[in-house]
Amino acid sequence: MEKKDLDWGNLGFGYMKTDYSYVCNYKNGAWEEGGLTTDHTVQLSECAGILHYCQECFEGLKAYTTANGDIVCFRPDLNAARMADSARRLVMPPFPEDKFVEAVKMVVEANAAWVPPFGSGAALYVRPLMFATGEVIGVKPADEYQFRILVTPVGPYFKGGDTAITITVADYDRAAPHGTGNIKAGLNYAMSLYPYEQAHKNGYAENLYLDSQTRTYVEETGGANVLLVAKDGTLVVPQSHTDSILPSITRRSLVVVARDILGMNVVERPVKFEEITNGDFVECGLCGTAAVISPVGHIKAEGVDVTFVDGAESSGPVMAKLRGTLTQIQSGDIEGPEGWVCKI
Ligand code: PLP
Ligand code: COI
Repeated sequence: MEKKDLDWGNLGFGYMKTDYSYVCNYKNGAWEEGGLTTDHTVQLSECAGILHYCQECFEGLKAYTTANGDIVCFRPDLNAARMADSARRLVMPPFPEDKFVEAVKMVVEANAAWVPPFGSGAALYVRPLMFATGEVIGVKPADEYQFRILVTPVGPYFKGGDTAITITVADYDRAAPHGTGNIKAGLNYAMSLYPYEQAHKNGYAENLYLDSQTRTYVEETGGANVLLVAKDGTLVVPQSHTDSILPSITRRSLVVVARDILGMNVVERPVKFEEITNGDFVECGLCGTAAVISPVGHIKAEGVDVTFVDGAESSGPVMAKLRGTLTQIQSGDIEGPEGWVCKI
């Protein structure tokens, strides 16, 4: 199969139409068969639930070419499970998890020409999404839904590759205690756009959000979880008292990589922002499907000026080791735990 003629090494994190999307509708209390489509548009009633009460959730994963030419994706079963959790929280019918994985495989295979070649640094971003198509006017769940998967080739999420980014601390909150921060609902991102624009205007790559109840604990950024390295080399992973952090698949995988493969000391616990400003951590990174692990060199805000001394310019040794190991597992260079790499 001939690859598309794209400048693979210079792709940004943007959308371009590919050949196929996957679509499946929910009607009369059941998911229909579903299949591939070349229609990349959606037609909706003006009264569709998504347009009024925001019943929508999504996922994000990547498909890659490995050294031996296979096309694979990483732990799609966990995306299927998290999307089902998101759907249940929003009173949407969960898309069956095995059907989700089959649909990912189907749409990636059909778009194989768009999967970047091995070594290009790019990937095919796979974006499953689900929304209420049924009509509602009173506040209630709709009775019809559409599940889709679009795919698009992407490069790095943060410009500059391994150059450390500077982030700021948002004055706004991302997630209410016991709210929707732990699911991947579009509504969580709508309200992050204003602080995101403000951060950008002020020259910052992202916002760090604190817990909204006390504004003392570190939660995560707008699109990635946070990892910290203590002076003694321990990997410290922020946890939330109120379950307000998205359970990142990258983060959960890195905890296993650090603990079981690299033999590191790993602690998952609530982390006070004060510990960061006190200089207790020497490295910081943002992890996620899009971000992979992006090094954070500085955190700056009013009265805050933190430098992570071992990773101020680019990834420090721990983040570099973690990213290297994870990406080698993903690209098939080293064997990871059973079932992590899913061949298309
Ligand atoms: N946190 C937020 C708010 C996100 O949007 C994402 C992206 O999916 C992540 C964390 C990282 O999650 P994952 O590693 O599953 O992509
Ligand atoms: C991802 O990492 O897949 C995401 O969905 C994050 C998004 C902000 C691009």
